[in-house]
Amino acid sequence: MCGIVAYIGSKPAQPLLLEGLKRLEYRGYDSAGLAVLNGSLNVARAVGRVVNLETKLKGLPGFDGTLGLAHTRWATHGGVTELNAHPHQDDKSGIALVHNGIIENYVSLKALLSERGHTFKTDTDTEVLAMLIGELYEGDLEAAVQAALREVTGAYAIAVICAQEPDVLVCARKGSPLMVGVGAGECIVASDPSAIVAHTSQAFALDDYNVARITREGFRTSTIDNKPVTPKMMQLELDLEQAELGTYEHYMLKEIFEQPASLRTTMRGRVDLKEGKIVLGGLMDCAKELVKSRRYILIAQGTALHAAMIGEYLLEDLAKVPAECEYASEFRYRNPIIEDGTVVVAVSQSGETIDTLAALHEAKDRGALTLGAINVVGSTLSRDTDAGVYLRVGPEIGVASTKAFTGQVAVLTLISLFLARRRFMSDEQARTLLDELTKIPDAIERVLESNDTIRRVTEKYVERDNWLFLGRGYNYPTALEGALKLKEISYIHAEGMPAAEMKHGPIALIDEGMPVVFIANKGPQYDKVINNIEEVRTRGGHIIAVATEGDERIKTVAQDVLYVPDVPDCLSPMVTVVPLQLLAYHAAVLRGHDVDKPRNLAKSVTVE
Ligand code: AGP
Ligand code: GLU
Repeated sequence: MCGIVAYIGSKPAQPLLLEGLKRLEYRGYDSAGLAVLNGSLNVARAVGRVVNLETKLKGLPGFDGTLGLAHTRWATHGGVTELNAHPHQDDKSGIALVHNGIIENYVSLKALLSERGHTFKTDTDTEVLAMLIGELYEGDLEAAVQAALREVTGAYAIAVICAQEPDVLVCARKGSPLMVGVGAGECIVASDPSAIVAHTSQAFALDDYNVARITREGFRTSTIDNKPVTPKMMQLELDLEQAELGTYEHYMLKEIFEQPASLRTTMRGRVDLKEGKIVLGGLMDCAKELVKSRRYILIAQGTALHAAMIGEYLLEDLAKVPAECEYASEFRYRNPIIEDGTVVVAVSQSGETIDTLAALHEAKDRGALTLGAINVVGSTLSRDTDAGVYLRVGPEIGVASTKAFTGQVAVLTLISLFLARRRFMSDEQARTLLDELTKIPDAIERVLESNDTIRRVTEKYVERDNWLFLGRGYNYPTALEGALKLKEISYIHAEGMPAAEMKHGPIALIDEGMPVVFIANKGPQYDKVINNIEEVRTRGGHIIAVATEGDERIKTVAQDVLYVPDVPDCLSPMVTVVPLQLLAYHAAVLRGHDVDKPRNLAKSVTVE
């Protein structure tokens, strides 16, 4: 979902800005551009990849200044054209601006500015903000930005420079993430830590309605009403080595294979096998309140929602506390009832998903205690929740979420056991489950050994354009996740649902040879799943079954069997999902798609 990089210091800005944009490419975009101030304002834009912009800049004069800003766009208003790519400028004051988000009242502002004689070149909402800042500019860029932002509604992360102030960079944020990395005599501003950490580990994140005025000597932060704000400095931990591709062809494959290691890191220091205890430092300040809580609501989108659905089952099954999961985008608008003793858990890899963020704020406004199960340290969600547990799976670059999913399920398992141990679960049961939980990474390693088998099975069905994914109990959300993975990177239409639901309509879809993936591990509903498999077979469907090692019966009903080790059913999604991740990956590769940057998608959805 688009990205911003800006720099002020003593080094040439252009190479820094381009390298920063490349660090942000994984977020998804459709065009890019940059501006450098070097006596005059020099702007370049290009449709497509950042490398197109880089090629265009080669040999162009005027781009060797030490103050600049850059942008990868994910178009919301105005087509994907070079003209609509950022930076956008005004027509009076020498303003250049890049923006993530949506200016929701841009139409009325555009009309007002047009009446004042301004002419617009683009179809974007962003140009209106640039023009408004230019209109309000009276020699003080920070004041003009503050005044303009008091007029706009919507979401924004912006960086702004002005030809009349060659030593000032102004940035601001509401709803879309923006961080400021602070170095010696320089600052680098970016949408997330991955574009900052190569330059400095000292940074602060802007909060909503914050503005930062940055010079080579330092910075000042305030609100859009010009009230001073003291930023909370943080130490960035991102290990760029981890974010490198290594020997893998795609980040997604790397991250699938990283899961045994990433889950070990997720659990490290948090599982006390001897005492049968779970140590979650991030929850200790509110442990008593959590244990007494009468209801848990989990909110998320996409893959994180599927993990949250498993969290709902875990909380009720292990901690014996009422739990429900719902789309954050629905929760925030349905006037939810939040009684005393309600805990809302936000599940998110990026910690910047605007729907989840808005739903969290809704829950907080209604008095809920809020927890986060989030991957990116220092992300907005991680700062806005009352407490939480970081996934610790490392940077997830592939747009299709894989290791974050298993990390989210592992964290939700730990939280459920943390509560269960303080409620009804016996030491014995806790020790047994924890012991099994710590073996899940080994089980995933076993599944990864069957990668070639999974690719061969995928080759048999990759030409089919409609798939079904069916599961029961803990593996109903896993079926949804398998369908989403296949859809989002291979562009094959796939639908996930509870296995029993198939008979209530979707069974009409079954035609000769249709691939139907069943999660048929040895769980409590295994026999029912076998019945559903038979119902599909008799109508010509081809069964791909994810089954438990040693299960011979499944071979009599499934055309293809992908075996996984035998683990407790409540822990099985972390294992049964892996063949589905690989199946989607191979389908995308076989269909020749861009696995890490699938069309239309963004890694973090920061617009509604
Ligand atoms: C998952 O493969 C997708 N990229 C998408 O559904 C993602 O899970 C969703 O946008 C939520 O993102 P988050 O975990 O960063 O909040
Ligand atoms: N709404 C702006 C546009 O469409 C910004 C989109 C983005 O966040 O990249 O240009």
